[in-house]
Amino acid sequence: MSEKLQKLEDLVSLCKRRGFIFQSSDIYGGLASCYDYGPLGAELKRNVKNAWWKHTVQMRDDMVGLDCSILMHPMVWKASGHVDKFADLVAECKKCHTRTRADHLADAQGNTTEGAKTAEDLIKKICPKCGTTGQFTEPMPFKLMFETQMGANADDSMTVYLRPETAQGIFANYRNVLDSTRVKVPFGIAQIGKSFRNEVTTKAFIFRTREFEQMEIEFFCKPGTEEQWFEKWKEARMSWYTSYGIRPENLRMREHDKDELAHYAKGCVDIEYLFPFGKGDWQELEGIASRTDYDLRQHQRGMRSVTNWIENGRDAVTTPLKAEDADWAKGPLSYFDEETRERYIPYVIEPSAGADRGTLAFLVDAYTVETLENGEERNVFKFHPSLAPIKAAILPLVKKDRMPEKATNLYNDLKKYFPCFYDEKAAIGRRYRRQDEAGTPYCVVIDGQTNDDNTVTVRNRDTMKQDRINIDQVKSYLREKLDM
Ligand code: GLY
Repeated sequence: MSEKLQKLEDLVSLCKRRGFIFQSSDIYGGLASCYDYGPLGAELKRNVKNAWWKHTVQMRDDMVGLDCSILMHPMVWKASGHVDKFADLVAECKKCHTRTRADHLADAQGNTTEGAKTAEDLIKKICPKCGTTGQFTEPMPFKLMFETQMGANADDSMTVYLRPETAQGIFANYRNVLDSTRVKVPFGIAQIGKSFRNEVTTKAFIFRTREFEQMEIEFFCKPGTEEQWFEKWKEARMSWYTSYGIRPENLRMREHDKDELAHYAKGCVDIEYLFPFGKGDWQELEGIASRTDYDLRQHQRGMRSVTNWIENGRDAVTTPLKAEDADWAKGPLSYFDEETRERYIPYVIEPSAGADRGTLAFLVDAYTVETLENGEERNVFKFHPSLAPIKAAILPLVKKDRMPEKATNLYNDLKKYFPCFYDEKAAIGRRYRRQDEAGTPYCVVIDGQTNDDNTVTVRNRDTMKQDRINIDQVKSYLREKLDM
């Protein structure tokens, strides 16, 4: 019998016990909504990011990669609209003064109101802190960008922001990429990196945290072709998740309502995963937005305003952006299409995924509890082999009869090719269970027969069946099975 994850708490405790994910600053009592990836989690998350990079950059001829700094010129955020518009509407409970995102407040049936804007919309909603119903202030905007000061001297110090998305670093480098490579529209730029948002409500383990990692693509295309690229990216991104093992029945695509659309978006769909929060909750893994030429146009205006910004004492927040003139479509961020001899500002499709959310979905989907024939239970993470933190464990059956030496030699050879683990402690059944909990696809055991005929057993994590093969064939066997 096999069971999937019922309660998130079971995953949280297994992740802590086996070193996937820890609460940040644990030794000081923890820092809310911040998490650290332990030895197994760091490998898993890196594998998720590598799988994304492989499919979005390495295997595509129309994509290139980028790695921008987190701190950027404040005008970037003025131009992008984040300084003025990147805020959540929060309502304060008149009784206990707790502030909650208006669209996250729920009534007695657990219903929330997407796009809740007025106190009237919150009349049946319950304060999550004190339980009072319908006693909320008018929702007001709460700015989500973290600010900090850059520079030690008062005269050259300025307010900068921790980036709230990696996307703007891509737009700010679009001209550099065009000028330094041979890319031609249609093409895309991909980036993976940390972003920061001072979220009003954080949620569910690593699902919504104030520091998080994004995997973002800005795909530049000719105006008029955006619908077709939007469809292509929707398909490509859905199949990425299923090709790495997410069950299709746990994945869906949801179109945004008009009042949910971000300030830059013409259209947007979310790829959602059925998380085990509450009774089961569809939540966003990735948004795919059709952003038109909004960002490049805004940055072109920002570039024209930057002198003004310096003259105005570097206060990006109050510096107005100069209006567009009739020639904006021929400006520095326009693109000249050699084939059609046209100049235009490209339109953009943006598939924007969360690396932490993705990692959580892969953990949830892989989590399995099986009851074996002998009544024993085993916890096993059935990760896709490419995502598994350890690919093979090398285990001498017992600590004698030259088994540890042979196992160590094999381990030293294999670890040059795959992340491997050597373990000679405890009974073999216990060591198998530990590898099942780590999601290790194969366990190679050196036993008494190895001394006689140079063979070892290779146990498959999911079927628990074993093959007996020559020790010299282990590398090619694993290479074929792991597709590495
Ligand atoms: N760039 C879109 C987002 O961060 O959600």
